[in-house]
Amino acid sequence: MQPDRRYRCALVTGASSGLGEEYARKIAPLCSTLVIVARRKELLDALAAEISAQHPDTEVHCITADLTDDKERVGLFKMLAAMALAPDLLVNNAGMGDYGSFDTSEWKKLDAMIQVNVTALTHLCHGILPGMLSQGGGAIINVSSLASTLPIPDFAVYAATKAYVSSFSEALRLELREFNIPVLAVCPGPVHTGFGKIATREESAEALPSREGFYVTKEQVVSDSLRALHADRARVYPGWKIALLAGAISLMPMALVRAISLSRRGKI
Ligand SMILES: NC(=O)c1ccc[n+]([C@@H]2O[C@H](COP(=O)([O-])OP(=O)(O)OC[C@H]3O[C@@H](n4cnc5c(N)ncnc54)[C@H](OP(=O)(O)O)[C@@H]3O)[C@@H](O)[C@H]2O)c1
Repeated sequence: MQPDRRYRCALVTGASSGLGEEYARKIAPLCSTLVIVARRKELLDALAAEISAQHPDTEVHCITADLTDDKERVGLFKMLAAMALAPDLLVNNAGMGDYGSFDTSEWKKLDAMIQVNVTALTHLCHGILPGMLSQGGGAIINVSSLASTLPIPDFAVYAATKAYVSSFSEALRLELREFNIPVLAVCPGPVHTGFGKIATREESAEALPSREGFYVTKEQVVSDSLRALHADRARVYPGWKIALLAGAISLMPMALVRAISLSRRGKI
């Protein structure tokens, strides 16, 4: 490993767009080898070319995989083993949402969301952790959401998947404390990425509501994440407004949280 690199091999999921693309850009100079994973190969290839031009000392590998599919996740582990790559930084970023009432939701979309946000994230930790343990350390970033802190009507399943991510990350962090493997849950508020378009239902005239004042840039989310990881923090809420909001929510009695959630139906 080059002396200025913190990581031998970093793996970023959901690197074809949004936050994942930005994690890949910012992590590239920190690692010797970078593995970027998503379904859209042409976007991964374009990002790999851009990163290789800017950081010629970083080896970049693209792996296309549909993370909703157990066989493709196992295939990803096999590809890493075949390339003798054992990531010591895992960024579980791939994710999706579905905005609208639960009773009118499509099961196929909900199932895919649970598979990517929950099952794939857990499977990747499970599959990649043994390599970190045998190397004597590593680090895990799990991308959760501010939504993990609240029950959100019209975003119910998404918020619940992210509650899982935050809870799982906190517990895993405690289990891995003695093994020099920090685990960070990143809880962004709204960020302009491809997320809103996918979360908004095609047949619905109702777009994902946006409150521009709360938006944070993807650059800030990623910089704050890396700073928090290297400061060994358990959780980060990028942007001061979101951090303040998260602090206020954590102090509210559940009855008040329920009342506010109800009054904000359709206004996430
Ligand atoms: N944007 C926000 O407002 C916001 C707020 C809080 C948390 N987050 C979280 O941030 C993370 C990144 O989302 P984003 O905002 O950057 O959205 P995005 O621009 O839509 O990016 C999502 C990424 O996930 C990948 N992905 C989705 N389904 C996949 C699948 N089945 N298999 C493999 N990869 C898959 C996509 O790649 P392919 O389509 O190429 O497969 C894409 O690279 C998510 O976990 C999201 O929940 C976002």
